Parts: sequence; structure tokens; C-alpha cells
Amino acid sequence: MRIYLEADYAAMSRRAANLIAAEVIRRPNCVLGLATGSTPIGTYENLIARNRAGDLSFREVRTVNLDEYKGLAPTHDQSYRYFMQTNLFDHVDILPENTNVPDGLAADADAECARYDALVASLGYADLQLLGLGRNGHIGFNEPDDHFTKETHVVDLTDSTIDANARFFATRDDVPRQALTMGVGCIMAARRVLLIASGADKADALYNAVCGPISPNCPASILQLHGDVVVVGDEAALHRIVEAGVSVCR
Ligand code: F6R
Repeated sequence: MRIYLEADYAAMSRRAANLIAAEVIRRPNCVLGLATGSTPIGTYENLIARNRAGDLSFREVRTVNLDEYKGLAPTHDQSYRYFMQTNLFDHVDILPENTNVPDGLAADADAECARYDALVASLGYADLQLLGLGRNGHIGFNEPDDHFTKETHVVDLTDSTIDANARFFATRDDVPRQALTMGVGCIMAARRVLLIASGADKADALYNAVCGPISPNCPASILQLHGDVVVVGDEAALHRIVEAGVSVCR
């Protein structure tokens, strides 16, 4: 596991964008696994700038997103499809048909999960999977549990996740209670994983993910079993790891 320590959110975002751009340049038709949430917004801004400058093309790139709220239409301004359109896809030269997000409105959510797993498998899994980190250690919406779930599945969001995401909705009651999420099987099948984290409120989860026991209590801890994980964090997010004496790249 390679850990990059960056000064702040802007530097974290630049580093993450560099790593994604390197993948796209090396493999123009790569499969990118993408995440939503506040953490990757700066990364996507950097990628948009490079695309606009003509330094990076997404023309052949295929994407698979981690998750979607159950019950939200793609046009809902808090759906993850809408997030991806407005924070990345609408601003770069990616082909719409090459972007994939689970369908939160599918009448049969379990069938949609099975379709999504088959789709990701048919693409050969992600060459690079970008992940944010929940304060409770979740990746995608794989919430702390007594077991890991391998397949894409419908998940009940925990109170901690509902609280954390309430900031994006008018009221806490508006936050959907369920989501469709890739399981840890698809995530672990990615050739490379890029985990990004910013801010002191991620420090405990990041420490547990990197230094704690491998446990479904901290779903991100399973990444310790992946052979190619890059963590990019800012000082606030990485402070416990640095204090523990884990070696980091500066
Ligand atoms: C989003 C996702 C989540 C977020 C996590 C962190 O697609 O899968 O795991 O990455 O909740 O969210 P932020 O970045 O808003 O702190």
C-alpha cells in the first residue's frame, strides 16, 4: 500500500487527478470505477481542467460508479447519476453510453444489482477504482456489518451515513434510507484502488482501514488484502497514521 501525504484538500485532489490521468493516458480505453460525495469533487475539477486544456481525453474511457440511492431518479439533484453528470461527465469528452451508474429507480432492485454485477464483470472490472471513505469506514455504501457482501446489493444506510449525508438534502428525512452499492467483490477485483480522504473527521476511519484489523466492522479494512492500493490523504486525515509511524510518501 502506497500512502501519499498531501498538505490539504487541493493538493490531495491534484495528486489523485494525476494518478487517474496517468491511467487514462497509459490505457485510453480503461475502465474507471468512480465515486461521488464531497471528497472527489476537486479531483474531478482537476480532470475537467486537463480535458479542457487538451491534455487528457476520455473519448474511449468506460466508467462504472459505485452506488446510487434507491428511489432517486437520475434527474434528482441528489442522485449520484446527477452528481456525476454535473461534476464530471457533462464537462469532458466522455461518451454518455460509456458511463454506468446503478439505476435507483429499477422496479426490481435485486435484478438491477445482478445486472450491474454482470455489467462490471463484462467490462473486465475497473482498471482503477476511485474510493472515498465514510466516517464509519464504509466504501461505496458497504456499511459496517458482521460480514462482507461480495455482490452488488441493496443496503440499509446506517444512521451515521444518513447523518453525514443529510447536509446535501433539505432535511434529514429527505435522505433515502437505502442504496444500491457495488459489493466488495467488484471493488477488490479492480486492478488498482485509489482511496482518497480529507479532513480530521476521516482520521479514525482511515487509521482503522490501514492499520486496524481486517473486519467488516470497518469495510475499508479489506483493502489491506488488495495488492495495489494507493491512499491519498491530507494531513488532517492521515495524522493518526503518521503518528503511528507508518511510512508515507511526501
Ligand atoms: C460515494 C460513496 C461513499 C463516499 C463516502 C464519503 O459514491 O461511495 O462511500 O465516498 O460516503 O463521502 P464524502 O466524500 O462526502 O465524505
